[in-house]
Amino acid sequence: MARPRVILGVSGGIAAYKAAEVLRGLTETGHDVHVVPTAAALRFVGAATWAALSGNPVSSDVWDDVHEVPHVRLGQQADLVIVVPASADLLARAAHGLADDLLTSVLLTARCPVVYVPAMHTEMWEHPATADNVAALRSRGAIVVEPAVGRLTGPDSGRGRLPDPDEIVHFVRELLAEAPAAADLAGRHVVVSAGGTREYIDPVRFISNRSSGRQGYALARAAAARGAKVTLVSANVTLPDPAGVDVVRVVSAAEMRDAVLDAAATADAVVMAAAVADFRPKSYAAAKIKKAPGTAAPTVELERTGDILAELAASRPRARQVIVGFAAETGDATGTAFEHGRAKLVAKGCDLMVVNEVGVNRGFESDRNEAVVLGADGSVTPVPFGPKAALAHVVWDLVLARWADG
Ligand code: CTP
Repeated sequence: MARPRVILGVSGGIAAYKAAEVLRGLTETGHDVHVVPTAAALRFVGAATWAALSGNPVSSDVWDDVHEVPHVRLGQQADLVIVVPASADLLARAAHGLADDLLTSVLLTARCPVVYVPAMHTEMWEHPATADNVAALRSRGAIVVEPAVGRLTGPDSGRGRLPDPDEIVHFVRELLAEAPAAADLAGRHVVVSAGGTREYIDPVRFISNRSSGRQGYALARAAAARGAKVTLVSANVTLPDPAGVDVVRVVSAAEMRDAVLDAAATADAVVMAAAVADFRPKSYAAAKIKKAPGTAAPTVELERTGDILAELAASRPRARQVIVGFAAETGDATGTAFEHGRAKLVAKGCDLMVVNEVGVNRGFESDRNEAVVLGADGSVTPVPFGPKAALAHVVWDLVLARWADG
């Protein structure tokens, strides 16, 4: 199979040095990458770096190799064009259809998906001129990835940071894998919860579970690659933030409930992939509990936490909101894992329930998963053992189908 052809546009911003890592990640995962830097980008990172890492010639000027008409050829032959970083100036030129260098010309000739990964200071990102340019590009079908929040060029921090380069590579791979369905979640806001909550007993001890957050992160990545606005409510996960996803960090089940309900107010779908504690210590010891000599081991009394999934399904803050639960089940004397999952779907009142059978070495802390997705309408969708990303895309396909039916 031919290697996917990616045009990596680079515009003039300090994050251009991180685009070199994106380039390396793309070439290492089998993409044929042609780099098109702007003149300003070349002041940050020189053409030799781009040529060496891509293994392809580099040009930024429409006056180079004119006989090959590169501005048309590059755009026409690409499977994906991605601009990393997209500066405020580049977004403005692209939004207005200017074609005053090779990169902006390629952006006009490309008929494949076009992705912009902006990086700039918060003030520039939030300026109404930039917001209008982003809205114009999105309205024409381009994907503009939300910048991350974090450290910026100077000592300051805020929204405007380039997402993790590895996550940008993930984004490209997801997008190319889903190319026919690209941007089918555009205009939708989805909420995903991930990880395992912690319920503290004292300042150093807590009750938690084995959830790594991988399935929730795969769901968030898949939705972002399909153009959705994604809020990821993440409990104690150590994975890098997915590109273009708003990550809200929580610790306990109570914090998760508040964050999920808050985000759900504007969401078209909520997927509860998190392992939420069902019980928490009834009281919290403000000072560390000591094992004084001669005293008995303390008893930790537990109380129930609220069921977020059931609360969401009962309240439905928005019309036609699709609510998805996850059930990690084991078969026992009272029924199979599948039967327990069906019972849970009914008890919680959600639209879809992803049921996976767990065991000592199944389901958790792995990149692969096997599941059956049950629908409140009686549908049964088996998902064979495979990457968590594949299960994620099946979930979004089923959510899309429910919006269409609604
Ligand atoms: N869940 C939730 N709030 C809770 C507990 C669970 O929203 N307090 C959600 C999980 O995110 C998941 C689904 O409910 O989507 C199933 O969770 P699970 O813990 O398997 O279900 P339980 O109701 O706790 O049932 P069990 O008695 O089997 O533990």
